[in-house]
Amino acid sequence: MAIRNIIQLGDPTLRKKSFDVVDFGEKTHQLLDDMRDTLIKANGAGLAAPQVGVLRRIFIVLVDGKYYECINPTIISQSGSQTGEEGCLSVRGKFGTVKRPYKVVVKAFDRYNKPFTVEAEGFLARAFCHENDHLDGVIYVDKATDIQED
Ligand code: CO
Repeated sequence: MAIRNIIQLGDPTLRKKSFDVVDFGEKTHQLLDDMRDTLIKANGAGLAAPQVGVLRRIFIVLVDGKYYECINPTIISQSGSQTGEEGCLSVRGKFGTVKRPYKVVVKAFDRYNKPFTVEAEGFLARAFCHENDHLDGVIYVDKATDIQED
């Protein structure tokens, strides 16, 4: 168990495109475990590997007590729209209004390289979209129609 440092907006790592995961072994499992501990300590809804300085296509989401680990994820379908507030552990002290799909279907691999799909609506869909954007160097502030101090 280890808490990792969450890098903040302005760090160029956050703007880079992450690479596919090819190692599903101990190193990746340790990263996932550390990310989970880091997310829980920060009281967040999601965390992507580049936020802890690792440019791999991994994110985790924790919403309403449900926990997801997504490796090499793809949003395979999306529908509807929702406009609401979101924040980011890499943009402390701010939140913004962002339009997202209302519903998404995400295909990803678990830590044992087993594929799965998950359907999400509402805030959970928002969280998946937000975290998936991190893997391409996109931060919610790029899409927000307004940003406010927390
Ligand atoms: Co974020």
